[in-house]
Amino acid sequence: MARVVFQPSGRTVDVAPGTLIIDAAEAAGVELPANCGGVCACTTCHVWVEAGAETLSAIPEREDDKLQEAAGVRADSRLGCQARVGTGDVVVRIPGNRTGH
Ligand code: FES
Repeated sequence: MARVVFQPSGRTVDVAPGTLIIDAAEAAGVELPANCGGVCACTTCHVWVEAGAETLSAIPEREDDKLQEAAGVRADSRLGCQARVGTGDVVVRIPGNRTGH
């Protein structure tokens, strides 16, 4: 199992390796919208990975391209519908600048 901590709420969940960040968020009771249904077409699932980024699945080119459209994109940005948890612990921050937040 890997532990995922969601900031700023601090909610934490233990998930199996291979779990998508959006699924971990749901399990933790954290709102992380997946407007396109998780097909890498919207960026509402954009997160910053503050720790453990190296343990996540590699960034496919399609995700990298899409990320450039996300508000507040940083070097540690990932799309929650593409990034899968590995075997290490991860700290994820949900950007707070979305409409409706
Ligand atoms: S849910 Fe749309 S890009 Fe991730």
